[in-house]
Amino acid sequence: MLGRENHQLTMESARIIQLPKNGDRRGNLSVIEEMRHIPFKIERAFWVYDVPGGETRGGHAYRQSEEFIVALSGSFDIIIDDGKEKHTFSLNRSYYGLYVPRLMWREMVNFSTNSLALILSSTPYDAADYIRDYNEFKSIKL
Ligand code: TYD
Repeated sequence: MLGRENHQLTMESARIIQLPKNGDRRGNLSVIEEMRHIPFKIERAFWVYDVPGGETRGGHAYRQSEEFIVALSGSFDIIIDDGKEKHTFSLNRSYYGLYVPRLMWREMVNFSTNSLALILSSTPYDAADYIRDYNEFKSIKL
């Protein structure tokens, strides 16, 4: 993403990335290595779980953070808005995930019972990295 202007971070940049799936009679094993399977160095991992039915998570963008989101268990949908168009990605397997570049408005919805979302981030937690005002987001993307 280096060298790209804010308005050039468009929908093409948010994408599903397939992960290795090593399966045998003992079960499956998938893996994520930074800069190999995902295009950033991992500074933080967090997970979202016990989401009550009908709840929405997210509802913000990040100035700098890039993320990779995997449904380790269950399913949920992520609505990505690049300021021009919206696209819904459904995550329901643990051998692929959604890469979300910086400056993408996201909402996570339709969490199934017992779903578990793993989120890998390119930055440490910083409340100042959040854009929580949609109008501010739109003005940055212009
Ligand atoms: P928030 O980012 O608002 O959750 P979501 O985007 O899934 O709706 O975070 C919820 C709370 O957790 C908020 O009080 C900030 C805190 N938090 C941390 O302390 N560290 C973190 O790395 C994250 C992602 C959140």
